[in-house]
Amino acid sequence: MLITFEGIDGAGKSTQITKLVSVMASKGIDVLTLREPGGTVTAEKIRMILLENSHNVSPIGELLLFSASRAELLQEVIIPALAAGKTVILDRFFDSTTAYQGYGRGIDLALLQSIIAISTCGIVPDITFYLDIQPEDALRRKFAKTSIPLDFEGDELDRMERSGIDFYRKVYAGYLTLIQQHPDRFITLNALETVETIHQHISTSLSERGAW
Ligand code: TYD
Repeated sequence: MLITFEGIDGAGKSTQITKLVSVMASKGIDVLTLREPGGTVTAEKIRMILLENSHNVSPIGELLLFSASRAELLQEVIIPALAAGKTVILDRFFDSTTAYQGYGRGIDLALLQSIIAISTCGIVPDITFYLDIQPEDALRRKFAKTSIPLDFEGDELDRMERSGIDFYRKVYAGYLTLIQQHPDRFITLNALETVETIHQHISTSLSERGAW
């Protein structure tokens, strides 16, 4: 089973993934957790190119690099794990590419779909949890600890995070479109609810779908 988590930066995906993994492990489920971009030596090198804020990357270059990282992770890790019967939990997958590079950067969606098809070998998640939060709230929450003002210029921000609030508004709208297009696969969660409440929704959805 392939479970993915999606949402804009600061939505709280990692907190929920950590909680879910410990619950699944306690049930004796063989679970593998990964995040994109990254997860293999090559993919981690690509991650550095994508996220370091010291240089520019063109929108098409960005699309191809995220896709190359994904292809590496699938071939080396995800496809073998799924074939071995493991449950794979993935922090971001191709929906991030549609939301960020498609709706956010404005890359043609048909072109993007064909590149996604090549990089994923047609693998689609069984279920996708989308943590819904307005960009302003998410970024404020994400940067509250470091008190970075929302001017998108702090050195602490990675290259993607420096894209600005208008970019994040487009990404957010893109996710909402994706959810409407794939109502059977997406489960939308209100990211402003408590960690425990969100976790309960996730557990219920997974148990209904036979994850345990
Ligand atoms: P990361 O630090 O992993 O952020 P997060 O914790 O929010 O997942 O950085 C990944 C960044 O890359 C994030 O800003 C989303 C972006 N991204 C894309 O733009 N396209 C993609 O296909 C993927 C996988 C991520």
